[in-house]
Amino acid sequence: MIERKEIIEVLSEYDPGNITIGVLASHSALDVCDGAVEEGFRTYAVCERGRERTYTEYFRAKRQNGKIIRGVVDSIDVYNRFNEILKPENQKRLRDRNTIFIPNRSFTSYCSIDAIEDDFKVPMFASRNMLRSEERGIEKDYYWLLERAGLPYPERIERPEDIDSLVMVKLPHAVKKLERGFFTASSYDEFKQKSEAFLKQGVITHEALASARIERYIIGPVFNLDLFYSPIEEEMSRIELLGIDWRFETSLDGHVRLPAPQQMTLNERQITPEYTVCGHNSATLRESLLEDVFELAEKYVEATRRYYEPGIIGPFCLQTCVDKDLNFYVYDVAPRVGGGTNVHISAGHPYGNMLWRTPMSTGRRVAVEIRRAIEQDRLSEIVT
Ligand SMILES: Nc1ncnc2c1ncn2[C@@H]1O[C@H](COP(=O)(O)OP(=O)(O)O)[C@@H](O)[C@H]1O
Ligand SMILES: [Mg+2]
Repeated sequence: MIERKEIIEVLSEYDPGNITIGVLASHSALDVCDGAVEEGFRTYAVCERGRERTYTEYFRAKRQNGKIIRGVVDSIDVYNRFNEILKPENQKRLRDRNTIFIPNRSFTSYCSIDAIEDDFKVPMFASRNMLRSEERGIEKDYYWLLERAGLPYPERIERPEDIDSLVMVKLPHAVKKLERGFFTASSYDEFKQKSEAFLKQGVITHEALASARIERYIIGPVFNLDLFYSPIEEEMSRIELLGIDWRFETSLDGHVRLPAPQQMTLNERQITPEYTVCGHNSATLRESLLEDVFELAEKYVEATRRYYEPGIIGPFCLQTCVDKDLNFYVYDVAPRVGGGTNVHISAGHPYGNMLWRTPMSTGRRVAVEIRRAIEQDRLSEIVT
């Protein structure tokens, strides 16, 4: 793990009056760039060839006398593969621009977490040591942390033989490398039947199935809580709820839009929904549940400070389901900018806007934090 003091050394070479916000061009990059230009920063997106035009063409920035008049992406590098960002000369390109890098899930998926921890010598606005915690199945993964924090998560079913009510079986997709091969089952028989069909279709592998996490399915709506922790806030709450999103997932959303008689006609290949995120929507919660949200956030932050020193920094996302008795269950945690924050781009979100009295997206909140840290000469406290 690159030590914080090494990163602070890198930072000491930076010109704080000329900071660039850098991202891997995917996931939530547009939200981050939008927020950055709003707060007067220049932006730098590292793209992969074949999927770069969103950034290089369609949302490219145009400035007049330094003032932004179109788009959000100021400068760009296009590499053959995303992970070329890790090459020493390309890291140097980030540092030469005084870049503070905002890690997203694409960064930790396309680049190895070992390399991010040990070799990526660029100041990140995030907790470097926490990024790995979202790899389900490792020793100190997010479930471990939730347990330590005393947070509710869906009960784990140790053996498929013990399935006695609806469960979610979580394992990676065999072909769509970054996607899920999730399926549900409500009995051991159904588990066997579905897993055999999926194995036959090549959707999952035996190894993945053997180490799959089986957990109780929470029947209820999904609320992804887009939260923020400010280590430098001295007066107001350090924890902020910026927004709440929920996601469009294939093919689940197609299934729920079919009337039951049509659902019944689906063939073996269509009958089991997949959960591939392909869009986002915005939500709010009834007010009496907000107190619960803050309690979840407080406990999570406290546990990260205790077990993952220095603890969470900046944006994070608690992905929750709420059951019929209004209990929250955290089924996934992103210790970085969440995957659904594009829903706030430029417009902000009711909660973030209300708190900041101006449109406050996650991307903008990130930039505001970096701006405040620069003004207070406390940048070293928000990077790792
Ligand atoms: N225990 C659960 N009960 C009900 N739905 C769940 C549960 N766990 C996950 N889901 C659903 O599956 C989707 C993906 O789950 P998640 O754990 O976030 O996977 P990933 O780590 O790939 O993002 C969620 O958006 C949610 O709709
Ligand atoms: Mg998730």
